Amino acid sequence: MLEVKEVKLIRDERNILNSLTASFEKGRVYAILGNNGVGKSTLSYVLMGLESHNDYKGKILLDGEEIDTLSVSDRAKKGISLSWQEPARFKGLTVKEYLTLGGKLRLSREELDETLSIVGLNKEYLDRLVDESLSGGERKRVELASIMLVNPRVTILDEPDSGIDIMSMEMIERVLERLRDKGSVVIIITHREEIARMADEAYLLCGGRMIASGEPEEIVSFYRKLCDTCQHINEPITEGGLAND
Ligand SMILES: Nc1ncnc2c1ncn2[C@@H]1O[C@H](COP(=O)(O)OP(=O)(O)O)[C@@H](O)[C@H]1O
Ligand SMILES: [Mg+2]
Repeated sequence: MLEVKEVKLIRDERNILNSLTASFEKGRVYAILGNNGVGKSTLSYVLMGLESHNDYKGKILLDGEEIDTLSVSDRAKKGISLSWQEPARFKGLTVKEYLTLGGKLRLSREELDETLSIVGLNKEYLDRLVDESLSGGERKRVELASIMLVNPRVTILDEPDSGIDIMSMEMIERVLERLRDKGSVVIIITHREEIARMADEAYLLCGGRMIASGEPEEIVSFYRKLCDTCQHINEPITEGGLAND
């Protein structure tokens, strides 16, 4: 279980994250839904423990253990995995080398083929060079395959459909299903209703705070009502909550 307690992050005298509290259980998919600029990617960096973001206040607990002082690589060792909004780049690596972490992960051919098929790629891709011969969308698919193969305790997917080509919604659903079946805590960050609907539960993020949580359909309807006309788009609130509270 991952718990986020009263997390605050200040930049330029603004609360980018503002007393953000949320909890996430294993084997469940959580959507974090919110407009551009509400703090979604910032939350993913804080959870991952990026050096640029480790001055946050509040607590993050993984299975009851405080991880706030852990570096990004220590958090990765604990099984927290982030798929960035922008697909990563890997110079000179083949898909197979990338998926097996340069041979460190012992994976059967069947496992590799089966995982690639979940993301809609065939085994011919294994020998292709990730950077030189794949489109941005294909790289994103390879990255999602890689995440499934390392079997994370916590998987954070930041706008996995934001892409360069249009990612298939069914493919994202298959990835979420696999991660859920493997017992990962799955957090999918999105501004799209149809992605939020794929989750078991959803949070609505606004001005760096979770302002609602519940059934995805209910949160999607709040999102429509509250966020379409919201004054805080691209503008995190400062102190004390929403202006129209
Ligand atoms: N290093 C920073 N310095 C100042 N403002 C920042 C910094 N990083 C992010 N922000 C601001 O924080 C807000 C949230 O950004 P972000 O987390 O990227 O939003 P989202 O992913 O929801 O679109 C935005 O208003 C952004 O401009
Ligand atoms: Mg973002």
